[in-house]
Amino acid sequence: MSRIPLLACAAEFGLLLSATGLLAAQAQTMSRIGNVTGNADAGKREYRRYCVGCHGPAGDGLGENAQWIDPKPRDFTAAVFKCRSTPTGSLPTDEDLFHSVSRGVVTTNMPSWEPLTRQARANVVAYIKTFSSRWATQGPGTPITIPAETPANIESILRGRDVFQKMECWKCHGPAGHGDGPAASTLTDSKDNPIRPYNFSTGSRFKCGETNADVYRIFMTGLDGTPMPSFADLMQPNDAWDLVHFLRTLQPLQTPEAAIWQTWLPAHAKELKPLGPDQGGR
Ligand code: HEC
Ligand code: HEC
Repeated sequence: MSRIPLLACAAEFGLLLSATGLLAAQAQTMSRIGNVTGNADAGKREYRRYCVGCHGPAGDGLGENAQWIDPKPRDFTAAVFKCRSTPTGSLPTDEDLFHSVSRGVVTTNMPSWEPLTRQARANVVAYIKTFSSRWATQGPGTPITIPAETPANIESILRGRDVFQKMECWKCHGPAGHGDGPAASTLTDSKDNPIRPYNFSTGSRFKCGETNADVYRIFMTGLDGTPMPSFADLMQPNDAWDLVHFLRTLQPLQTPEAAIWQTWLPAHAKELKPLGPDQGGR
């Protein structure tokens, strides 16, 4: 291309850029949940009614009830979220936020907002995004791909046990997954509040979901703002599914994985090397 048309192009490119800026600004005050479009102006009303007491009028997590609550309500001005389908460090999708609002955060004061209409929840998601300028300049990250689940058999569970050892999940979560690993008592979140690793024996639900695919997503994307890291760069999909199958044996559930494990274990317990600091393998 010669120089002159390039200059002319640059002017048009400038127009295009400001149009993209406009689009980003629009994306910030809207949300897209399937075929529902959320609107921030409408969302402000719901927010003022249902969310303000915890998350605060300025979205900074300093609502009047926040002082009584642990963990603290999310500070939306930081735009850092635990439950994402997107890689660590990136913004969540509108759907991720919608799921968090709908599901609530188990074991915390964040209620499930399922009783609100889909439209109302979509609106409030759009409104949350207005608290941080990150949403005006960045789009959400690209959701990670979760390949089809591998068979949950004893071989997979045992390989997953090795992954748990090798990735040092036990350092925080403890050898038995009780949230009592050697590093557990020293951990703080991004606001310097003490935070405990998840105790797998307390139930079947996680803050960010409850299905096997949810568990896969949780440790592959990490819980941003907490010491729970992303393992996406360290694990292949097969390892990750094996790990999911092993984690299920730590929970007090009658899952297929737990049933397989309990059948296998009595005759083989002696073959297992204990998990934790003193060994490298199974
Ligand atoms: C009674 C207090 C309370 C109310 C009311 C409340 N929240 Fe929360 N919310 C919390 C707490 C506490 C957390 C942090 C949980 C955690 O960090 O584990 C949270 C977290 C969140 C998150 C972050 C999830 C993530 O992935 O990090 C979103 C989004 C959210 N709330 C939206 C809302 C919306 C929208 C409303 C109103 C419809 C609302 N909340 C009402 C207490 C509340
Ligand atoms: C540096 C410490 C640390 C390490 C290492 C670590 N975690 Fe975590 N993990 C945490 C903390 C802290 C939480 C609790 C976060 C919260 O409550 O918001 C957590 C939470 C979780 C949760 C529950 C998330 C939810 O949605 O409730 C799962 C599942 C999990 N970790 C799996 C793993 C696996 C698997 C590994 C190893 C591959 C691992 N973690 C390694 C600190 C760690």
